[in-house]
Amino acid sequence: MRTGVCYYPEHWPEERWTIDAAHMRRLGITVVRIGEFAWSRLEDADGTLHFDWLVRAIDTLHQAGLSVVMGTPTATPPRWMLDKYPDMLALDENGKSRGFGSRRHYCFSFTPYVDECRRIVSALAKCIGTHPGVIAWQTDNEYGCHSTSMSYSEHALHAFRQWCEKRYTTINGLNHAWGNVFWSMEYDHFRQIGLPVGSVTESNPAHQLAFWRFSSDQIALFNKAQVEILRKLSPGRDILHNFMGNFVEFDHHDVSKDLNIASWDNYPLGFLTRDNADPVDQARFLRTGHPDGSAFHHDLYRGCCNGRWWVMEQQPGPVNWAPYNPSPLPGMVRLWGWEAFAHGAEVMSYFRWRQAPFAQEQTHTGLLLSNAEDDVATSEVRQLNEELHRLRLPRAADETSGNTATNMLKVHSSVAIVFSYAGNAIQDIQLPGGQTYSPLAFCQRVYSACRQWGVNVDVVSSKAQLDDYKLIILCNNSEDDPEFVEHLINSRQHSRATLAMFPGTGSRNSEYELPESLPPGAFQNLIPIKVVRSESLPDTEQLIASNASGSSWHCIQWRERVHSQIEPHARFSDGWGFHYSQDGVHYINAIPEQTDLVALIGKLLKVSKINALELGPFLRTQQIGPYRLAINFGPEPVELASALGSTFDFDENTIVIVGSDTLHQTDIALWAVR
Ligand code: GAL
Repeated sequence: MRTGVCYYPEHWPEERWTIDAAHMRRLGITVVRIGEFAWSRLEDADGTLHFDWLVRAIDTLHQAGLSVVMGTPTATPPRWMLDKYPDMLALDENGKSRGFGSRRHYCFSFTPYVDECRRIVSALAKCIGTHPGVIAWQTDNEYGCHSTSMSYSEHALHAFRQWCEKRYTTINGLNHAWGNVFWSMEYDHFRQIGLPVGSVTESNPAHQLAFWRFSSDQIALFNKAQVEILRKLSPGRDILHNFMGNFVEFDHHDVSKDLNIASWDNYPLGFLTRDNADPVDQARFLRTGHPDGSAFHHDLYRGCCNGRWWVMEQQPGPVNWAPYNPSPLPGMVRLWGWEAFAHGAEVMSYFRWRQAPFAQEQTHTGLLLSNAEDDVATSEVRQLNEELHRLRLPRAADETSGNTATNMLKVHSSVAIVFSYAGNAIQDIQLPGGQTYSPLAFCQRVYSACRQWGVNVDVVSSKAQLDDYKLIILCNNSEDDPEFVEHLINSRQHSRATLAMFPGTGSRNSEYELPESLPPGAFQNLIPIKVVRSESLPDTEQLIASNASGSSWHCIQWRERVHSQIEPHARFSDGWGFHYSQDGVHYINAIPEQTDLVALIGKLLKVSKINALELGPFLRTQQIGPYRLAINFGPEPVELASALGSTFDFDENTIVIVGSDTLHQTDIALWAVR
């Protein structure tokens, strides 16, 4: 793993560039991302290009031994662009235009802007695409950030109608697919179709799902337009995009098809304070981030581009955008680096080099203070790099050879969580589990329960190769997808993998209709059950399922009633069954609260013959290639020999390569497994 940093040469006097580059190298940094917001300096008036400074910046960085990732500047169209195209702006769902003065002020469906993007990307790629210092490109910046995945503009409407015509061919086909006979919502022409907003009560969920799919496709197309140019004009360079955390507004698997590398922006403390609804987690992980938060995304993005993934932006200290922005505990910056390494990252790059004394992000830390003195993260980055260097890992390509090194260390997992963006959208559109249920949060709870047993997990798409897993888990696969069911049947034929499905699996077809055979639709080919009722519950309600052998399961938020010949593992007091299984296929028809979910996952791991040991909430471990890493998020020190023991190959003879065998909070240990 190499380390990198996000740098904005246009923010600083040119004399600083050499000093900064040398300083980066002293910290052990070898990758630098630039350019992604620099359009106004690259083209200060329509057609007036100024690439000379950019070339000098790349030369300077390259001469210092840094590899450059060039960002296409299309997330920040300059002000003159707006004069040229006043209606390039996206509209929000109230029809209000999303104005100039920050970033991402464009509508994906406004085609003249897509052409402008093609033009600037072509010009840039012609100029620097074969520069030996440029090793990769980042397209745009964080698609969808600041709620920009969907636009409700005239242009979006027009493109949506065309999209519908292509998908449904005839208007009756669409009416039928969406069930528009309900409430007399039938259309006579595609030109009558509106966007699913502004209706008196909720608009048809089929309409909403179609608009979600359309908006996702528009992002993939927008991205592809740039990729095609870069492939031609900048051969041999990797192309990536920086995805976000806790973000499901478009199908990342789709966008990733056109990329070489999936990268993502990791702000563990920001995500915890902004997105985690659990007050206990909020308190105990305030300065460390959730132990499974970064890891979930590492594993999700590793599944997007055949294993190749980076952290493009990593939190170095307090950020500026969460409800409150605490400082990480000393040691966390190093820990996050090692964690990314153990999940297979090729690059971990910090955001940003130097704190900006101006504009929106003044309170966002960097590696350097705004006055260019070192801030506290620099010593941890230096330490991380020295430690990584000590490992002398095998590397496929040399650091300066124009192509990023392929990580020779692979992550092998016995457990797969199949993640479905469309399935997630289906549940988000009409929450089946009540107001507090979030399908994404539930996937993360399942992931967390697995990680609490110390196992490696892959988070993969339904198209991924599934032959080698011992346990496959579906938590948000609500789409009744016969092709996927076929794929599961074929994959399990060889592996005999345990398959576990949670509520909602196969509960709607691709047009948001209940399957004819009732949920879980085609998944009934895997286990003969029928879901005949679904109820959602307030957080105050806990239902207990128990059985004769004394086991009991506390369930919350969402429960289904199942009809089946199969005898359930337990029953609720009102007679509804809980947890059906047959021939290694499990249907878990309610949401267990976290302690019971951990226990349930433990049982599934056991029947799948996967090596596992309960680690509790704070200790985590991950194996990559021949190495295993342990990290401690909790306040109490952990003796690894007693905490991990033989299950994870740790005893008094184990030689710790990095770190030590007693882990205090934020400590790491790396050793080679036998
Ligand atoms: C990211 C974004 C960066 C910066 C950062 C602040 O979402 O890509 O440009 O704004 O957040 O944490």
